[in-house]
Amino acid sequence: MARLILAIETSCDDTCAAIVDGAEIRANVISSQAAAHAQFGGIVPEVASRHHLELTAPVVEAALAEAGTTLDDVESVAVTAGPGLIGALLVGVSTAKAIASPRRLPLIPVDHLQGHVAANFLAPEPLEPPFLCLVASGGHTLLAAVRDHAGHEVLGQTLDDAAGEAFDKVARLLGLGYPGGPALQKLAEEGDPDAFEMPVAMRNDPGLDFSFSGLKTALAYLCRDLGPDGVAARRADLAASFQAAAVGQLVAKLERALKRGEWGAVALGGGVAANGPLREAVRDLCERRRVELKLVPLSLCTDNAAMIASAARFADPIPYPDYLAYDAFATRHERPTGRKALV
Ligand code: KG4
Ligand code: ZN
Repeated sequence: MARLILAIETSCDDTCAAIVDGAEIRANVISSQAAAHAQFGGIVPEVASRHHLELTAPVVEAALAEAGTTLDDVESVAVTAGPGLIGALLVGVSTAKAIASPRRLPLIPVDHLQGHVAANFLAPEPLEPPFLCLVASGGHTLLAAVRDHAGHEVLGQTLDDAAGEAFDKVARLLGLGYPGGPALQKLAEEGDPDAFEMPVAMRNDPGLDFSFSGLKTALAYLCRDLGPDGVAARRADLAASFQAAAVGQLVAKLERALKRGEWGAVALGGGVAANGPLREAVRDLCERRRVELKLVPLSLCTDNAAMIASAARFADPIPYPDYLAYDAFATRHERPTGRKALV
């Protein structure tokens, strides 16, 4: 198991590099592009790729400097191979190959979602499997059964929009900036969560899948019926009602999974895990069901490269030169076969 790992993560709009030594984070540098995308109200993939091109080298340099080390000490290079925006991923994978190959270092391709799971394996208080992990971000929403360090089983996932995507879209309807989640949470503090009745998605579905597009559409119809003045007058109530319904669904599925009785610990990951009411509701649920709750710091919930290095510790490195033809993948369905990325 290589100890000093340089990891690169560029699956979406954050350019990230980290140096991890065993389970210990030596540096975790994140350069957010949010400001570059704000004017468009969402992420523009081509803009993200171009920013990654400019930012990867300085971000890697910053991580090495913060860790007080150089590339000479790095034993392997880990990189997010997918899923994500393909152009953005390609920048990270090419950079990783360009750093690893002249030094004949092994490359470790990592699945982004396993990265969110593996954030829980980092020091100072690593969570040992088995545990149940709810990952909710702008691109993904899933419940992962984590039985060992090397991978996870998807117990349920969103059938349409991701939870964070719904927060962002509703925030936009309410005239809030991008990313919308934090702004919506703030606005909701002044509103009544029971002001509007929201549809309960998948009410009759016995499984663990999620759906957020109906909730978003319900908000769009409410806004249309209220008209611009009505929306302006009820913005906080709309935000609070939406947030309560979205959090309610996430927690209901988590509870349903816990009722199966297999799990003694729960972890949260992804940007939506920063949501205060979600954290509170999950804390209550875990207390009620007497299971341990692991909440990593927010900087490890949102996209970062330390989580990618953490997953890489338990993955198979690909030796030089076998990885030169390794490709990024946009969806898990397109994952390259042969030398596998970690699931
Ligand atoms: O994990 P992340 O940083 O990037 C992705 O992989 O998507 O998650 C970003 C998402 C955005 O949709 C953002 O609106 C949402 O996480 N988010 C929140 C909060 N903070 C970030 N959603 C709800 N409440 C928050 N406080
Ligand atoms: Zn993510």
